[in-house]
Amino acid sequence: MKIMVVGGGGREHAIIKSLKKNERVTEIYALPGNGGIAADATCVPVGAKDIEGIVAFATENAIDFAVVAPDDPLVLGAVDALNAVGIPCFGPKANAAIIEGSKVFSKNLMKKYGIPTAAYEVFTEMSAALEYLETAPIPTVIKADGLALGKGVIIAQTREEAKEAVHSMMEDKIFGASGSQIVIEEFLTGPEVSVLSFTDGNVVIPMVSSMDHKRAHDNDEGLNTGGMGTIAPNPYYTEAVAAECMETIFLPTIKAMKAEGREFRGCLYFGLMITPDGPKVIEYNCRFGDPETQVVLPLLESDLLTIMEATANGTLAETEVKFSEKSACCVIVASEGYPTAYKKGFEITLPAAEEDKEIFVAGARLGAGGELLSDGGRVLGVTAIAENLEMAIEKAYAHTKKVHMDNSFYRSDIGQRALKALK
Ligand code: AMP
Ligand code: GLY
Repeated sequence: MKIMVVGGGGREHAIIKSLKKNERVTEIYALPGNGGIAADATCVPVGAKDIEGIVAFATENAIDFAVVAPDDPLVLGAVDALNAVGIPCFGPKANAAIIEGSKVFSKNLMKKYGIPTAAYEVFTEMSAALEYLETAPIPTVIKADGLALGKGVIIAQTREEAKEAVHSMMEDKIFGASGSQIVIEEFLTGPEVSVLSFTDGNVVIPMVSSMDHKRAHDNDEGLNTGGMGTIAPNPYYTEAVAAECMETIFLPTIKAMKAEGREFRGCLYFGLMITPDGPKVIEYNCRFGDPETQVVLPLLESDLLTIMEATANGTLAETEVKFSEKSACCVIVASEGYPTAYKKGFEITLPAAEEDKEIFVAGARLGAGGELLSDGGRVLGVTAIAENLEMAIEKAYAHTKKVHMDNSFYRSDIGQRALKALK
């Protein structure tokens, strides 16, 4: 089988390494992939947002199955376009990807179907938003409606900060057109849990839970990033919480999307907060999380391709989805300066392969002599799996220390909060 994976980060590398385990797979193409992915797939210089280019490549190369991993092509309708030329896909159509593509859509969906989430108001006029903020409870959370590279959320600690956020989104358009509608919502508290799930539109199967570490530096200091590390499973996601989430959030969401004529097939990501009033939805993503995927897929014992095909065929109920009881930790190695300004082009030396340890390349290209050169803010994800979380963390860091790259940094406390919660 010839498989095409759209995207080119650490998440896509983890997906490709998992797909390769299936013997039916003869060839994997990554569009565009990256210098590290090139060791596991044929990289093709077609951008992940170039829907026409993606469809043209897939038809010309008789692709049997496509995996569309990033949010942009999903929201732009890559799956619709590939399905239209007869290529089955893993991923939602555009009318379902809107669950991530529009915060206004997802908040209104949750309200309509009684799915627990933060209370909110939607604004299309700046004056109305500013007036609302005169009496709104503080802290408050301001969100741009559309995709904003994961940066469209501002948590305002004061009324002034909140007003400034509204000005910057609606007037200065710091997130572009994403800010022409905004959501202002209640500030929730509690530990956060990421739950990725497989769904075929009717059946939803949660994967092992995980915890992201979004701030750039230790002790959750520094700016928000795309994610500096992950662990799985997340100790805050107890069996009782899982059962409650299934009943009040996961199934109701799948049913709501179907009732709206927007059947969701693929990976639906639930960003949850375990509040004193129970679990609530912070956000939905229409795709695998990055770097959650780098700890979740290494724990998957069943065959990824078979599960992906089942989400597309509507046969998930008959498909085995089994995860290991072990734990995983992923440490992200980033370029000095990330998430603001950083340099590229530093040579990366990877350690020799070791059992239960994997390196997923997020931002690198190949130099003229075939050497691996850094090419992004987040460069590598170093994952280890072990019997328990403490051992997984230790193994992940031992392997991370063997990576060499000038001008790089990583957080030294990935998983420490989870370890405390376990004790
Ligand atoms: P996002 O970019 O949507 O992933 O949101 C970034 C982060 O903002 C989330 O991971 C939460 O930590 C935080 N956040 C979003 N909404 C809320 C809320 N209503 N209350 C408290 N924190 C929030
Ligand atoms: N790690 C969060 C995300 O993928 O959006």
